Amino acid sequence: MYKEQLSPTPYVIIVKEPVLDYDSWLKKRPSKPSIWNKLLSLKPIEEEHNLVIDHSYDGIKELNNPVPAWFNFLFFGTMVFAAGYLFYYHIGGYGDLQDKEYANEIAKAEIEKAAYLEKSANTIDENSVKFDNTAIVLEDGKTIFNTNCVVCHGDKGQGIIGPNLTDEYWIHGGGVSNVFKTIKYGVPAKGMISWEKNLNPKQISAVSNYILSLNGTNPPGAKAKQGEKYEDKDVEDSEMKEVADSVTKTDVSKK
Ligand code: HEC
Repeated sequence: MYKEQLSPTPYVIIVKEPVLDYDSWLKKRPSKPSIWNKLLSLKPIEEEHNLVIDHSYDGIKELNNPVPAWFNFLFFGTMVFAAGYLFYYHIGGYGDLQDKEYANEIAKAEIEKAAYLEKSANTIDENSVKFDNTAIVLEDGKTIFNTNCVVCHGDKGQGIIGPNLTDEYWIHGGGVSNVFKTIKYGVPAKGMISWEKNLNPKQISAVSNYILSLNGTNPPGAKAKQGEKYEDKDVEDSEMKEVADSVTKTDVSKK
């Protein structure tokens, strides 16, 4: 405070600049063009007279402005890119062409689809199981039957300890959902174990369908009928199922 009082800062003296005329203003402007002007390849106004094309229409003249730098950059850039592309995909063969890429995508999708079907197959239960007499399912069912069930039900399902599986008489009901249920939960009190832990739902479904396919085969030495005659009321069950998908035909016997 005192300091300011002792030696006050002098007032700023405003110097009035002389008013420039246009030509001297042009000369005063920085001669170096800005980046923006460079990109647009703009010429300073004082050089414009060099660009005038030698014609005029109704007094209107045309300038022969150079092609802007940004445009040239893009234009030549596409050429460089094309050369690289050609080399990468067509000459060097490093990249996959679209046909190959398509095949790759399809193969990937097939794997995902198989995984999905495998997962959804394992969610089959007695309510969602479907009658299916396609050869591949019966084949799988037969393998499962031969390894697990023959000892009690006979090699042709004629019945030994377990009942005859080839007639129309069922103790626990025929039709794919009843048979599925019997196999899944078993009848432990009567000597038929629950297969839920040893077979996955897809396998149980396959072996159920295999058993249904034995119906009416009348193998020699068939065990006498047990249970009630089963009549299929559910039309859905006996409907022939077309398996259009190759993925569902994957081996069901593997877990
Ligand atoms: C240890 C012997 C034994 C084995 C192994 C066995 N079962 Fe059984 N199974 C039986 C007996 C006993 C019954 C009869 C149960 C009853 O009287 O309620 C039976 C009943 C059944 C029934 C019901 C038949 C009906 O009339 O309702 C089906 C279906 C069946 N078994 C399927 C299978 C399948 C499929 C396998 C192999 C995965 C299998 N069983 C393995 C002993 C066996």
